[in-house]
Amino acid sequence: MNEAQLTDPADPHSLFQSWFAEAKASEPNDPEAMAVATVGADGQPSVRMVLLKGHDARGFVFYTNYESRKAIQLLETGRAALLFHWKSLRRQVRIEGPVSKVSPEEGDAYFATRHRDSQIGAWASDQSRPLDSRATFEARYAEMVRRFGDGPVPRPPHWSGFRVAPERIEFWQDRAHRLHERRLFTRSGDGWFEGLLYP
Ligand SMILES: Cc1cc2nc3c(=O)[nH]c(=O)nc-3n(C[C@H](O)[C@H](O)[C@H](O)COP(=O)(O)O)c2cc1C
Repeated sequence: MNEAQLTDPADPHSLFQSWFAEAKASEPNDPEAMAVATVGADGQPSVRMVLLKGHDARGFVFYTNYESRKAIQLLETGRAALLFHWKSLRRQVRIEGPVSKVSPEEGDAYFATRHRDSQIGAWASDQSRPLDSRATFEARYAEMVRRFGDGPVPRPPHWSGFRVAPERIEFWQDRAHRLHERRLFTRSGDGWFEGLLYP
């Protein structure tokens, strides 16, 4: 099946921006929340929520711990899938493509905008590693609070962003009687092919 046909040279990034703006206006919580799916070296898929912190023609950016389970899998395979589900709008957006680290400067710039408590949390959390008790985590957090005192909190070297560069973006809109609408954009050189999929 040729699922992508050139019907309308629309820009999926502009379409995403307009859907995202509508989601921000209508979703009661976390319109920027998206699931990020990864695959381990053993072929086992794994999925969890993150927050979209940047979007432009280069791709979709989120921040995390580079030693976390998701990061290990992203660095192994170099690929990810993202999923937004805006329940109030009855819409989903599916994104797939290669993933890369953001530049250190981009990571620093975003880290500097975070609340100080979150900055300290990034130092205190060994994300995805076993934790013997909540008290251990709280003690590590208190230790980092003492360590940084009143000074600035720099970005930990193991904490920064990933950018997913889309090769495929699908916009799904609920329609009556499950006759949903699916618009699929697939990357073609510097442009995009647009086609429809059966629901
Ligand atoms: C709404 C929501 C937003 C989240 N945002 C992030 C995020 O931006 N970055 C992050 O590392 N974890 C975020 N988390 C936590 C992750 O879902 C996950 O628990 C954590 O990153 C560890 O995942 P991993 O062990 O698969 O690497 C969020 C969780 C929820 C429910």
